[in-house]
Amino acid sequence: MSEVPFTPVARVGDIPAGEGRTYEVGGRLVAVFYDGTSYQAIDDLCPHMGASLGSGPLRDGEVTCPWHAWRFRLCDGAWCDNPRLKVDVFEVRVVGDAIEVRVTPPRPLATSR
Ligand code: FES
Repeated sequence: MSEVPFTPVARVGDIPAGEGRTYEVGGRLVAVFYDGTSYQAIDDLCPHMGASLGSGPLRDGEVTCPWHAWRFRLCDGAWCDNPRLKVDVFEVRVVGDAIEVRVTPPRPLATSR
């Protein structure tokens, strides 16, 4: 299986410190955040009711969903109230002035019988 490539989504300076932006990469929506020092990327889709996490406020490494205030850690995608629930986290790198993300395909849903 080939490795998933990085995809440029924005340029340094496009995302103000303390904010996020949402980009479409390979059919997925990805929220990329800048804390003033580094960039982090998670799945944009809130698992509660589907709000865009990229438009939520960022504070102390956590983004708050703009609809019902669920909070997610950017370091591992965990829901702060129950870390067993996680959104996907993606690798981010800066090459020159390009912000690039490596977006993996969605995980298959677990099924039970
Ligand atoms: S849609 Fe995100 S907390 Fe409800």
